Amino acid sequence: MNIWNADVYDEKLSFVSELGKSLIEMLNPKQGENILDLGCGTGELTNEIAKRGCKVAGLDASSHMIEKARKKYPHISFFVDRGETFRTQERYDAIFSNAALHWMKEAENVVQSMALALREGGRLVAEFGGKGNVDAIVKAIETVLLTNYGIDAKEKNPWYFPSIGEYSSLLEKYGFRVIYASHFARPTPLPDGDQGLDHWLDGFAGAFFADFELAEKTLAYQKIKSRLKAYLWKDGKWIADYKRIRIIAVKEGKA
Ligand code: BEZ
Repeated sequence: MNIWNADVYDEKLSFVSELGKSLIEMLNPKQGENILDLGCGTGELTNEIAKRGCKVAGLDASSHMIEKARKKYPHISFFVDRGETFRTQERYDAIFSNAALHWMKEAENVVQSMALALREGGRLVAEFGGKGNVDAIVKAIETVLLTNYGIDAKEKNPWYFPSIGEYSSLLEKYGFRVIYASHFARPTPLPDGDQGLDHWLDGFAGAFFADFELAEKTLAYQKIKSRLKAYLWKDGKWIADYKRIRIIAVKEGKA
């Protein structure tokens, strides 16, 4: 499990919400629509959607993230819940989700929750990591942990990066019609020069290093970085090898 630090997320990893802003254009929220932001983090994009005159709620499994979201945006409703199990009396016009579905490994349960929460004709607009996402980083972590510590990192991997085919099949099983899907490479510069990858690992890859002392983790990061330097370091920046899925699906039948 990842331990979310809401301050680090806002200060060092704010590019996640920045990059998600264009997904709001795909959502095309209309005044008065009732929208759920699934995996809302500290609420940056939830607030952007609210500014369009929608009734919006944010949901996230991390109580730290929700606590901060409530402080920042007290006029918006935020809930702590898991995508896999949440149920609601609301029937939303749309569910929006940026950079969150890849944290929810029981994907079929998440799709069922979303189908139950949408009205018929409601839409899902989501972006998340697709097959091959951060492949170089994952391979470097796996190699360093196995070679130096005898740890099988595959068991600790907290992410789910499906193909379009896999995710579309799940959506179809729960009554969605997929009307748009794209799986594209988005090399993503990490802020803060050489420290950028450390921040990324601290913020997102904690599950691999949960049992490490700080000094040991620092050493492991150095080894990971030296493996990745030839592939992901360019012009004074780390460039994460992101591969995104963007998908729009309309809920047609009953879930
Ligand atoms: C992503 O946004 O693709 C991502 C973020 C953290 C860990 C893995 C993937």
